[in-house]
Amino acid sequence: MKAAGPIAVTGAAGLLGRAVVAELLGAGQEVLGLDRVPTATVAGRYRERLLDLLDRAGVERALEDCVTLVHLAALPSPHAGTPAEVWGVNTTTTGNVLAAAQAAGICRVVLASSQSALGFPYAADIVTPRYLPVDEQHPCEPSDAYSASKLACEILAEAFSRGGSMDTVCLRFPVIWDPARHVEHISRRLGAPLQGAKSLWAYIDVRDAARAVRLAAESEVAGYELLNITSARAFAPEPMHGLVGTWFPDLTDIRVPLDAETAAFDWRKARARLGFTTRYAWYPDRILAVDVHG
Ligand SMILES: NC(=O)c1ccc[n+]([C@@H]2O[C@H](COP(=O)([O-])OP(=O)(O)OC[C@H]3O[C@@H](n4cnc5c(N)ncnc54)[C@H](O)[C@@H]3O)[C@@H](O)[C@H]2O)c1
Repeated sequence: MKAAGPIAVTGAAGLLGRAVVAELLGAGQEVLGLDRVPTATVAGRYRERLLDLLDRAGVERALEDCVTLVHLAALPSPHAGTPAEVWGVNTTTTGNVLAAAQAAGICRVVLASSQSALGFPYAADIVTPRYLPVDEQHPCEPSDAYSASKLACEILAEAFSRGGSMDTVCLRFPVIWDPARHVEHISRRLGAPLQGAKSLWAYIDVRDAARAVRLAAESEVAGYELLNITSARAFAPEPMHGLVGTWFPDLTDIRVPLDAETAAFDWRKARARLGFTTRYAWYPDRILAVDVHG
């Protein structure tokens, strides 16, 4: 096992990547950013390498000296390309970085997955969950190329872990909200009730998402682990018990009391494995920092 070297972050120039780079540097880590496009100027122990992650040999060279891999790069929605492009880029880049990480002797890998792997948010028609809250054991039935690609990447990560040399943590995120776009995110959620229901009223502040990535990168979690990373509260226009009754009238297997803001995703495994709970709670007129010093 390598003792020292940078943490490689793919997709470092993206929404989540920029926040993860800042979070890791803030924690004193050395970071190598990998992306097709440059990041804005980053101070501290940061280097970047511009490359296309579809270039397997380039990825192998880039990861040679790294101790940990954080893989965030992707075409991050079904609308980011044709179905063939979205599937091809997401699965091929993930296969490339996992194979290169293994060849480089990297022991810990963190992958950004998505709750879309379950098949809810991008389905043509609303899909009723089998039960609430949705945990990591819930069946996945993706019906678009993006959601299927995220599920495939989870399976790839698990397969590489079975080889024994790498521990992989897949983090399933809901829609990631950027505090700089508070008004836009809130308006979109409140203006599209069907999409809110398909998303099970979940979200995560990008700063919380980045902290979860850091905790996973620094953790001792062994083997393969899949974790829901989601806000502890739902963001919904009405109390959750009413919404669930309206949108999912056939759903009877409800395993937690549905109070006003209960999250529809179960985040307890991430708390148990990483000590992670969210710190930023969104409301229509503000973002509350909860327990920031806890
Ligand atoms: N944004 C969300 O709401 C959300 C929700 C759930 C999961 N996710 C996941 O989180 C991760 C990050 O998403 P994001 O919102 O930051 O996306 P983003 O589009 O902002 O950033 C993705 C980055 O990956 C890079 N990239 C894509 N293909 C590449 C390639 N072939 N070679 C090199 N770089 C490449 C892009 O240049 C970009 O900088 C993705 O894996 C996505 O599936 C995002």
